Amino acid sequence: MLNTSPLKKCFRAKILPIFLQKSLTNFLMKKTLVIAIDGPSASGKGTLAKKLAAHFNLPYLNTGALYRLVALRVINQKIDPQNFEELINQLVANITEADLENEILFGEDVGSVASVIAKNSKLRAALFDFQRDFVKSEKGAVLDGRDTTTVIAADADFKFFVTADVEIRARRRFNQLQTNYEEILAQLKKRDENDLNRLDAPLKIASDAHVIDNGNLTIEEGFQKILKIIGDKIGN
Ligand code: C5P
Repeated sequence: MLNTSPLKKCFRAKILPIFLQKSLTNFLMKKTLVIAIDGPSASGKGTLAKKLAAHFNLPYLNTGALYRLVALRVINQKIDPQNFEELINQLVANITEADLENEILFGEDVGSVASVIAKNSKLRAALFDFQRDFVKSEKGAVLDGRDTTTVIAADADFKFFVTADVEIRARRRFNQLQTNYEEILAQLKKRDENDLNRLDAPLKIASDAHVIDNGNLTIEEGFQKILKIIGDKIGN
């Protein structure tokens, strides 16, 4: 979809002959748009990613939900999160997109176990193909999560690193979950530490990512900021 806007304008203005319009349609249809949104927990990256997916009519994948789903299976089956390697094949089997929408996944307890198991390279490798297939979907995709800009969609057309101070993130999570603020803050700090310091695919800002400090922005302001960056490049 990059650099196609003059062509699109011709197309919309119907100033091309029909046969050229057809080949242009084919050309445009082959183009994809991949947007990857990285960043720490509760930074608002998921909300922004979903809005972008709806705006560009692209499939959306919350990659954190994959790790959360495996974490939930670990918890339900009473498996030790520090010692689950032999069970990886079973833990990643039969994952459907519907599984990733289960509300139970999004509590802080499941998130904390997710950040422990996510350190495991064999688990990351086992979840790689699911995510990579998503990136390669016909139209492109919007993905969010740690390592989407550095590993999973390192070739994305647009990369964003959405962040905010940990206190602001904890306050937002508290507003969602209505549990204990201090506990949420401590869990987020621990999760940041796990994600920043792991050896495989640590949380980091890709050199070609646009950093969006989302701490003092409304959802709409963050969304417009991202749209402007994309629009400036593709002319939408
Ligand atoms: O983004 P979310 O908070 O839902 O992710 C839960 C945990 O899953 C993160 O703390 C992180 O450890 C792990 N994760 C990951 N790679 C991703 C997405 C999430 O390691 N692409």
